[in-house]
Amino acid sequence: MVKVDSFILRSIEKIKEQVSGPAIIALSGGVDSSVCAVLAHRAIGELLFPIYIDTGFMRKGETQRIKDTFSDMNLQVIDAKERFLKALKGIEDPELKRKAVGEMFIRVFEEEARLLKAEFLIQGTIYPDRIESEGGIKSHHNVGGLPSVMDFRSIVEPLEDLYKDEVREVARALDLPCEISERMPFPGPGLSVRIVGEVTQEKIEAVREANAIVEEELLERFHPWQTFAAILGKGTGVKDGQRVHGWIVAIRAVSSRDGMTAESMELPWDVLKRIESRITGEVPSVARVVYDLSSKPPATIEFE
Ligand code: XMP
Repeated sequence: MVKVDSFILRSIEKIKEQVSGPAIIALSGGVDSSVCAVLAHRAIGELLFPIYIDTGFMRKGETQRIKDTFSDMNLQVIDAKERFLKALKGIEDPELKRKAVGEMFIRVFEEEARLLKAEFLIQGTIYPDRIESEGGIKSHHNVGGLPSVMDFRSIVEPLEDLYKDEVREVARALDLPCEISERMPFPGPGLSVRIVGEVTQEKIEAVREANAIVEEELLERFHPWQTFAAILGKGTGVKDGQRVHGWIVAIRAVSSRDGMTAESMELPWDVLKRIESRITGEVPSVARVVYDLSSKPPATIEFE
């Protein structure tokens, strides 16, 4: 704990030394950017403008949670839902989808940075991010791509030497809510990579509701490393005596140490059945629910 406390004090001092004008940070609601925002706020107060871009691909209740948690800061909430949906229209290829989300993210962020006349960029890059982006397995759209386009006086990365579990320790010490400090990994492009094929408003709403049910049923009881719902496509079903074509929802629950490999969890049948009946009952457009048994490798954790 002493180590964490002294890390906090040292990084606040360092941010104070490094930042002398308006600074921005892209706040995603994840533990890294949240910790960074709190440290920077303690260091430079009103000079910090956290930017939260609502892509429309966030989980249920996430935007409100962020507004509540960071209400004491100059939080800029940008509603870009329509722009993101338009940017993804007609795109089915997973990598093109990721690219489109990443590019739109940078565009919206840049616009806001200009409006705020930001001179400093604060980023929640952690040590493994550097290794991963060098590996180039998948085009992660973390804001690591921003500095090449924008002209900042300086880029400040207070967490660059920390591992994830150390960031979580700092989050706890900073009294961030446990929904943030213990949060599961969530991909940058959000729910858009949990919809196989084209993203539409209807699919986003269905996957968001299904995902909330999966989290409610599994998170606290089974502590999966990651769990979520995804939409695979359409299949036939019978609802209220009518033959329908509804969404096929996949449930994913994995144990893992670092996300590089993963095992699907052996969940009790009654729990899986309850999730299935809740999703098909509470989300009218879903006709079928399946459980993904795949490990990583050969599968990945996300579907795209
Ligand atoms: P995969 O699907 O490659 O995912 O097995 C491994 C871990 O990385 C997360 N993930 C992402 N995280 N931006 C992120 O910050 C992304 O674009 C992204 N894509 C996947 C995934 O949720 C899992 O924890």
